[in-house]
Amino acid sequence: MTPKKHILVTGGAGFIGSNFIHYILKKEPDIFVINLDALTYAANLDNLKNLPDPTRYVFIHGNICDQDLVFDLIKTYKISVIINFAAESHVDRSIYGPAQFIQTNIVGTFNLLEAAKKAWLEEKILPLSEVRFHHISTDEVYGSLGPEDPPFSEDTPYKPNSPYAASKAASDHLVRAYFKTYGLPVSITNCSNNYGPYQFPEKLIPLTILNAINGRPIPIYGDGKQIRDWLYVEDHCEAIWLVINQGKPGSTYNIGGGNQPFNIELVKKICSILDDLLPYSKYKPYEQLLTYVSDRPGHDRRYAMNIEKIKKELSWEPKENFHSGLEKTVKWYLENQDWIKGIISRPEYRAWIEKNYNKR
Ligand code: NAD
Ligand code: TYD
Repeated sequence: MTPKKHILVTGGAGFIGSNFIHYILKKEPDIFVINLDALTYAANLDNLKNLPDPTRYVFIHGNICDQDLVFDLIKTYKISVIINFAAESHVDRSIYGPAQFIQTNIVGTFNLLEAAKKAWLEEKILPLSEVRFHHISTDEVYGSLGPEDPPFSEDTPYKPNSPYAASKAASDHLVRAYFKTYGLPVSITNCSNNYGPYQFPEKLIPLTILNAINGRPIPIYGDGKQIRDWLYVEDHCEAIWLVINQGKPGSTYNIGGGNQPFNIELVKKICSILDDLLPYSKYKPYEQLLTYVSDRPGHDRRYAMNIEKIKKELSWEPKENFHSGLEKTVKWYLENQDWIKGIISRPEYRAWIEKNYNKR
């Protein structure tokens, strides 16, 4: 069958973008995916091996800051949907080096918006009713909650605390402004922490699994009593596609998993899953590897999402429960040792781990 719709996925060689490409090729037989990725340290083309239907997929090595390239792609492929996953995404890296976050997350998003505006509003390559610019954002734009505060809703004022969160907040504002000022059909989803296959092992869950199975210390920042709202990545992908197809232009939706353990509880849970899955390991019980280290500067204490809007308007809610999702994730990392080796053998990865953890 000839694909009817061409969608541009930016950052599709990263964690959520690659999961989305797997998801969409499997779900939608009429979709052709153009994946534009700059292949930064966080990218991994191995994430895109074994795609459900590779004949409906093309990879373009390029940067979202290259407006001419993006415009050419939109025109050449008659792109009707742009989904912007491309970003610098790690809070700890944004503390050491915020400049790249400003460039990709803010300037990059601006360039995408400009290219879309030119193609869709000025050159009118497609009817406006058929196009959508969807921006992937985070709960971190809302700042940090106290223990008794209600969860973040779509109306919670933005109060970002890290350079990462501030750069994402700025990009959200730009996207919204292009709707209000120019009438570009946009939507935004602000999602909580994702977990699942293909997540780069600098983030808490894959780092914990990796360190545990190698008998290395599992670093817990501060007192480990911070709270994140964890969502299985495929549930996120489903919500994104629903918002693109059924969410009103100009709208924002919060997405979250409703799983809100203390970090320390989460890490202990992973250790206990590993105790069951690898009962003969010399590192068992894995909890003995937990190591408290100095805290992240500006560390947000608690995130929690109110997802009533997407539940009510689009009948979405997460399908995966936290235990089964975590177990699936741990098993995936155990079964994909070559994928892990491909990353940890990179000098850049080892340099990052040294930089972030050696003197903590
Ligand atoms: P990731 O770091 O795993 O992947 C980012 C991808 O973007 C990489 O493949 C990288 O090469 C690419 N990229 C970076 N700069 C680029 C540029 N200038 N041009 C083109 N490509 C570029 O990130 P992720 O965890 O998959 O996150 C994807 C999006 O979801 C981000 O916008 C992030 O802010 C958002 N988000 C992530 C989470 C989470 O828990 N991971 C939660 C909520 C929102
Ligand atoms: P992370 O996975 O970096 O996501 P984010 O900062 O975007 O929420 O971190 C999740 C939580 O885990 C956060 O509270 C910081 C904490 N954390 C640790 O305690 N140790 C670690 O080594 C890392 C990477 C994170």
